[in-house]
Amino acid sequence: MLPPLALYVHLPWCVRKCPYCDFNSHPLHHAHLPQDVQARYLAALLADLHLAAEELRGRRIETVFFGGGTPSLFDAANIAQLLHAAERELGLAPDAEITLEANPGTVEAARFCALRSAGVNRLSLGVQSFDDAALARIGRIHDGAQARAALAHAIQTFPRCNVDLIHALPGQTVAGALADVDTALAAGLTHLSCYQLTIEPNTPFAHQPPAALPDHDASADIADALAAHLTQAGFTHYETSAFARAGEECRHNLNYWRFGDYLGIGAGAHSKLTFADGIVRETRPKHPARYLATAQNAPHELRRRTPVRDADLPFEFLMNALRLRAGVPRSLFAERTGLNDDVLAAPLARARALGLLADEDDRLCASARGQAFLNELLALFLPETGAPHG
Ligand SMILES: C[S@@+](CC[C@H](N)C(=O)[O-])C[C@H]1O[C@@H](n2cnc3c(N)ncnc32)[C@H](O)[C@@H]1O
Ligand code: SF4
Repeated sequence: MLPPLALYVHLPWCVRKCPYCDFNSHPLHHAHLPQDVQARYLAALLADLHLAAEELRGRRIETVFFGGGTPSLFDAANIAQLLHAAERELGLAPDAEITLEANPGTVEAARFCALRSAGVNRLSLGVQSFDDAALARIGRIHDGAQARAALAHAIQTFPRCNVDLIHALPGQTVAGALADVDTALAAGLTHLSCYQLTIEPNTPFAHQPPAALPDHDASADIADALAAHLTQAGFTHYETSAFARAGEECRHNLNYWRFGDYLGIGAGAHSKLTFADGIVRETRPKHPARYLATAQNAPHELRRRTPVRDADLPFEFLMNALRLRAGVPRSLFAERTGLNDDVLAAPLARARALGLLADEDDRLCASARGQAFLNELLALFLPETGAPHG
């Protein structure tokens, strides 16, 4: 049986580039995305979706995620057109989860009602912090008051909302990080993503790190305090960075972690798709200008496809599945990869001997130690190191 199918749509522009961000996002230096750019990009996405859908007929889309960049810069009418196209080309499940990432600026918040009418039923708000000084230190264009106002408006407008917070911010204490979480909880939020600030290569922060970054131990103390606090508040820490009340988990992301299929359209988007003859990965041209030019002049060249070798599947599957703190049923490996799970036997035995796996025969699940040393655990499943020795 084929895995569930999700649709990811990448919208690659932001008002300004944040100095810590290495996502495929491009600064506009302006609060609005010009109508002609929106129109050209929409046409490119529709062509991309139409071509990709030819091979996927008969498969229905279970979840849609508009990610960025700042998707809330797009007019709701364009988002509505994309959802109509998804319905027309492949069909959307009646209960499809449709998430859109938004920045908490006032311009974006003014669009929330129209986005809801367009069909978005889950909003993911990139708040990062509610603290003005912390926001200024990481170069955000909004302040805490705007973030609180946008969150209140989002919770009134959408049936489901997520807030992204970043912790271990310059100068941040445990109390400061907990205050951010408490502000989100007080608004009635049911899903939180808490990312530790990472200094990514080739970002302004990598060239000039901000002052007063918490060290490794201080960052770990903040992360532990956040997890304990949210657990106490009734949230489940269901993935490395994700917390939800029961039933509020992000279905789109769960599909990635359970090695489901996803079609990614838009600049630099990635896909993972299962066909009768195997699993493939696809990428789209990364720069928006090149993506637009290719869509216009040679749409059949939008997709660059690479088959996933059987030897790489154990690592690829577990790299996703072991992020889930409750793991996955062992039977999912064969279901999703088409391989016999005997191929896991030797590395699983080694991982168990090292105390990196929970002691459950019918689940693949990292132990607390395995979660702390996830890279070491995953390395056991790499084709080079994971193959049985003579
Ligand atoms: C692709 S961004 C889109 C969200 C939206 N554009 C925004 O910034 O509000 C998704 C999330 O990744 C997180 N993120 C981006 N860069 C990060 C970094 N260097 N360290 C930690 N989290 C980061 C932020 O929490 C951000 O909200
Ligand atoms: S707004 Fe979001 S996507 Fe855009 S640069 Fe900032 S963190 Fe990156």
